[in-house]
Amino acid sequence: MKTVLITGATAGIGLETARALAHHGFHVLLHGRTPDKARDAATKIPGQVTPVSGDLGDLSAVRDLAGKVKDLVPRLDVLINNAGVWNSHRELTPEGVELTFAVNHLAPFLLTGLLRDHLSPEGRIICVSSDSHRQVKGMNFADIGLSKNYHGLRSYAQSKLGNVLFCYEYDRRKEDRTSICAVQPGLVQTDIGLKGNTWLHRLAWRVRRQMSGHKTAAEGARTSIFLATVADTPPSGLYWDDMEPKRSFSSSYSEEEARRLWALSEKLTGFHYDFDGATADQDTSRGSSDEGAGSR
Ligand SMILES: NC(=O)c1ccc[n+]([C@@H]2O[C@H](COP(=O)([O-])OP(=O)(O)OC[C@H]3O[C@@H](n4cnc5c(N)ncnc54)[C@H](OP(=O)(O)O)[C@@H]3O)[C@@H](O)[C@H]2O)c1
Repeated sequence: MKTVLITGATAGIGLETARALAHHGFHVLLHGRTPDKARDAATKIPGQVTPVSGDLGDLSAVRDLAGKVKDLVPRLDVLINNAGVWNSHRELTPEGVELTFAVNHLAPFLLTGLLRDHLSPEGRIICVSSDSHRQVKGMNFADIGLSKNYHGLRSYAQSKLGNVLFCYEYDRRKEDRTSICAVQPGLVQTDIGLKGNTWLHRLAWRVRRQMSGHKTAAEGARTSIFLATVADTPPSGLYWDDMEPKRSFSSSYSEEEARRLWALSEKLTGFHYDFDGATADQDTSRGSSDEGAGSR
C-alpha cells in the first residue's frame, strides 16, 4: 500500500485530495492544524486515513510533524505540501517571521528537507503553488516579511513564487530519482479567503471565487491527484496546471533568485540540505527574526 502525507487536508483542496487518494488505496496521513481538526476530517473519509497535526506557522511543530510521520510509516511515497494561507494583516510566527511566508514557503521547505530521506526511491513531492505567483516581479529580499509595505495578496503571491523557485532549485540539486512538481490548482471555491481576512477581503473573495472558470475543491485537487497516482513518475522540476505542464512566470526561472531564497530559507529554518549525504538539522543556527531575513 502506498503512503501519502497531505498537509492542510482538513478543508478545501487538501481534503478532496485526501478523499481521492484514500479511494485510490493510499494510506493517507491527513495533516491538520490541530489534533481535533485532523481527527474530524479523517473520520469523514473511508479508507486507511491516519490523522497527524501541527501548526505550520511554528517551525518546532514542523519538526515534530516530520518525526511523527517517520514513527508512523516506514516510508513515504508521496508528500503533498498543500497547506496555505493568506492573511489581510501582517502577523509574525514565534520565530519572528511573517506568517504567510512561514506557512506557505518555509514550512514546506523544512518539511520536505526533514522527510527527504524517508521518501521511497521514486517518491513524489508535490507543492501546491498558484498562478498568483505571477503577481510579484520577484522575491523582496530586502524586506522578505514586507514589514514596510505589507499587503496580504502581495505576501501570498511572493510565497507562491517561493514554492515554484523551491521546486525548480530542489530539482536542480537532487541526484536521486524522486520527482518534485509545483501545481496550480486554478481558482477554487474554498474558504481560504475567509479565514485570516478583513470583512472587505472576505467579501472580495466571496465574489472572486464565483468568477467564471472557478472550480470546486474536488476539481481543484485533480492535478495533485493525477501527479500522485499517474503510473510513471512524473518528470521532475515542472509547473503543472490542469494535469499538463506549463510555463511559470519568467522570474521563477531565475537560478540566482532560487539560490538566494534557498540560502535564506536554510538560515531561517536552521536546516541545511545536504544532497550528497545525510541531512543536517541545525536548529540552533536559525535566524531569529524577520529583520534578519532581509539582511542577507
Ligand atoms: N482556493 C484557490 O483558489 C487556490 C488557488 C491557487 C492555489 N491555492 C492553494 O491551494 C492550497 C490549499 O488551499 P485551499 O484553497 O484549499 O484553502 P483552505 O480550504 O483554506 O485549506 C487550507 C488548509 O491549510 C491549512 N492550514 C493553513 N494554515 C495552517 C497552519 N498554520 N498550520 C496547519 N495547517 C494550516 C488549513 O487549516 P485551517 O482550516 O485550520 O486553517 C486548511 O486545512 C493552498 O496552498 C493555496 O495557496 C488555492
